[in-house]
Amino acid sequence: MKLVHSLAELREEIASHKKSQKSIGFVPTMGALHEGHASLMREARENNDFVVLSIFVNPTQFGVNEDFSKYPRTLPEDCKIAEASGVDLVFAPSAEEMYPLGFQTYIEVGKVAEPLCGKFRPGHFRGVTTVVNRLFNLIEPTRAYFGQKDIQQCLVLLRMVKDFGSPVELVICPTIREKDGLAMSSRNRYLSATERKKSLVIYRALQAVELLHQQGETEVAELSLAAEQELARVPEFELQYLEILSYPDLEKIETVKDQAVIAIAGFLGKTRLIDNSIL
Ligand code: PAF
Repeated sequence: MKLVHSLAELREEIASHKKSQKSIGFVPTMGALHEGHASLMREARENNDFVVLSIFVNPTQFGVNEDFSKYPRTLPEDCKIAEASGVDLVFAPSAEEMYPLGFQTYIEVGKVAEPLCGKFRPGHFRGVTTVVNRLFNLIEPTRAYFGQKDIQQCLVLLRMVKDFGSPVELVICPTIREKDGLAMSSRNRYLSATERKKSLVIYRALQAVELLHQQGETEVAELSLAAEQELARVPEFELQYLEILSYPDLEKIETVKDQAVIAIAGFLGKTRLIDNSIL
């Protein structure tokens, strides 16, 4: 496995690989890798000739009061996980490489980026799409891998790729959970032991809705109530949003007819957690 930091080195690696015309699987990350990321890397390994992982804590997707400066940066450990997961090339650029002096071109996706996290993290998806598009242009992947845990990110990026007519295929992989159900996230390491126990409330709320839906309930008000009742058992969980929207357009609905997504976000202490389930 090779580690490169500059665009010049990355371009050289990609160009020499492109000569062989083989497929490139790409996993974009912000590092602090966990089993969720490893599952994406393994999936990329299985289905592509060459696997590229990027590790970049992207400043433009963090709001002013968010955790950019304290976001975990664990490159040596990340490289070990990447190597064990079959990655060929790690690209870990500096902010200056990704956003050179004078950078001023951003990508903004429309409606699908507006609800959920889009409402509570203004500018977040603009930062995500801008950096992912830049990485796609540099790496020219055949396939790119994302986790369902960040479902709105997946849908925003799907829209971007479609609207640009990009040749990359986006692969959405299932959320990887801890044994007790908590969705894996780099931010879980911020949780205290007590918060970690309380964090299960999100998964329980999703499960309550899934069960009710399986039993035949389709009214969004009833399904939401089941989640609200579950969440109310942990008053320390400060709910940001609980929404059931159409999938994949993320539009308001009153009844679940085709596919829908239930998405939850909130804080336990200072840690923001998100999770979702597709109904
Ligand atoms: O999901 C993430 O880790 C980030 O949003 C991504 C896709 C790497 C862009 O910075």
